[in-house]
Amino acid sequence: MSSSPTLLTRPELIDLHPSPGDVCAAVGQGLARQPRQLPPWLLYDQQGSRLFEAICQQPEYHLTRLEKCLLQRHGSHIGHCCTEHSAAAPVTVVEFGAGGAHKVTPLLHALQPAAYVALDISATHVHTACIGLQALHPQVPMVAICCDYEQLPALPDHPLLAGQRLGFFPGSSLGNCSRAGAVALLRHMATLLGPGSLLLLGMDQPWSIPAMEAAYDDAAGVSARFARNLLLRLNRDLGANFQPRHFAYQARWDASEQRIEMALVSQREQVVSIPPLETVVHWASGERLITEHSHKWGPEDVRNLARQAGWRAVGRWCDTQDRFSLHLMEHGSLSQC
Ligand code: AVI
Repeated sequence: MSSSPTLLTRPELIDLHPSPGDVCAAVGQGLARQPRQLPPWLLYDQQGSRLFEAICQQPEYHLTRLEKCLLQRHGSHIGHCCTEHSAAAPVTVVEFGAGGAHKVTPLLHALQPAAYVALDISATHVHTACIGLQALHPQVPMVAICCDYEQLPALPDHPLLAGQRLGFFPGSSLGNCSRAGAVALLRHMATLLGPGSLLLLGMDQPWSIPAMEAAYDDAAGVSARFARNLLLRLNRDLGANFQPRHFAYQARWDASEQRIEMALVSQREQVVSIPPLETVVHWASGERLITEHSHKWGPEDVRNLARQAGWRAVGRWCDTQDRFSLHLMEHGSLSQC
């Protein structure tokens, strides 16, 4: 009786987390902006990553449910299109912002890839996720890389990254960039993934304003805790003395920019000290610290942004109400799937 060989080794963690100096520099730059705005990756310390997982379970946050459903329903067709458009099979799947890696299973089933590489800013979170995923997919070699992929000059020189790559960027995370930032990031992903690469991108689309605002300000208050956790992180990592209760959380739709703006609004005049910045930060009552923007781009917008970064659309899958899309793109070719 023959049985197929299984790998099932513990996935390695490559830790390229930004240094404490990088955290400090990002905070200094963000607080010098007008209005004040910090980069979203700072939200995802270990507790932030846990809270984000809890946001994804909230009834108001439709994105995760719609995207998982699309991946389950269309995984094999997507896999077929990827195979048609890749010069070499099997590909290596590289997931950007993998978090708990809860979405990739249908792709791994459909593609039987050469390897799975999970990139995320939270080391423990992504490593634990990969260890769990490895048990479900013993045949697929895996590696977890803790990094800020936006700043990563190149993917590490690693045997699992040898082949042709399919980038997987789910969750509408591209929407956390400005339009110019999105083009720059898509260009950067093409560089990281290398020649002939493919990209599967999940994007949330504009919908009713009350539904979008509720998705970012759930009744259970998890989104608010997620934003305030940023202040706790700065207290812990930089010795700052933010009082989270003196900042109110707000999420509102900005129609002119087509985005939800999430902010912590100072409830009083206050002074916060951040020792490594060698300064104190004055807050006026009502002054905002923008924690995130979440842009909602329709399919045509996404295709335009992608085109500017050299990507061509080869397929799109959406739910019955066309609220969320999975876009498959290849770098620099014309054929459609
Ligand atoms: C990770 N990103 C796509 C989420 C979003 O929907 O913009 C982040 C988020 N922040 C609060 N809720 C969700």
